[in-house]
Amino acid sequence: MNKVIEKLKQIGVIPLAVFKDEKQAVPVANALSKARIDTLEVTLRTEKGVKAIEEIKKNCPGFLAGAGTVKTVQQAKEVKEAGADYIVTPAYDETIANWCKENDMPLLPGVTTPYEIQKAVSNGFTTLKFFPAENYGGAKTLKALAGPFPEVSFMPTGGINTENMGNYLANSNVSMVGGGWICSQALLEKADYEGITNKAKEALQKFLGYEVVHVGINTADTAEGESVAESIGNVFKMPVYKGESEPDLKSIILKVLENMVMWQLIQTASNLRSII
Ligand code: 3PG
Repeated sequence: MNKVIEKLKQIGVIPLAVFKDEKQAVPVANALSKARIDTLEVTLRTEKGVKAIEEIKKNCPGFLAGAGTVKTVQQAKEVKEAGADYIVTPAYDETIANWCKENDMPLLPGVTTPYEIQKAVSNGFTTLKFFPAENYGGAKTLKALAGPFPEVSFMPTGGINTENMGNYLANSNVSMVGGGWICSQALLEKADYEGITNKAKEALQKFLGYEVVHVGINTADTAEGESVAESIGNVFKMPVYKGESEPDLKSIILKVLENMVMWQLIQTASNLRSII
């Protein structure tokens, strides 16, 4: 499997953004990175898309910038020039697919019907975007598609959010989910980058399927406690909620051990998911 596609499957949640101002691209990428989501599909639905990809690639080392809504080979060439790491198309287009193959550009082609899936598979593509997922039967349709197409792994997008993504992830042929709910227009308009980080953390937590209810932290004051909690939250890729408790060394040690074991399980589950 292509290394970029493999990395996307490990990340699991692929946010999508429609930028009206390319200057928002870097703060958004940084906000996602804070939640350990080091990728973003930048759509070409506005004329700022290509520039936004360029900005991310110039300023955010290691961050995977995808180009979405690519509908022509010309656009594919432009986003490659801008440094895009992968391309996402809304439908299966043989010309773009062939160009991507010839130019070593990872591609997630969009499909909805068995006809399109068959065409994509025949041309060597087995990781496909299922769009618009909710309108085309959602998780139920993907389950039915697993019969004739066991070799295909899907990234459903279109109407997906933190609440309903579990329905999709319950299918073994779903390796990741994507969508615009994390970098929503409402958050972009308010330049609420912290809000984007929080939404990203919540989504990733749901993807990984775990929650730690309580972690005891022994610190000098509340500010230090919050800062340590934030660091732990970052390591475990999850949101942090404030609470109160008495310092208790035994419970701290137990919780740390518990989290270490859980972290190992999560890593194993995440790796298994990407292998499957
Ligand atoms: C896409 O192109 O994948 C969709 O626009 C994402 O759909 P959403 O905005 O409903 O998440």
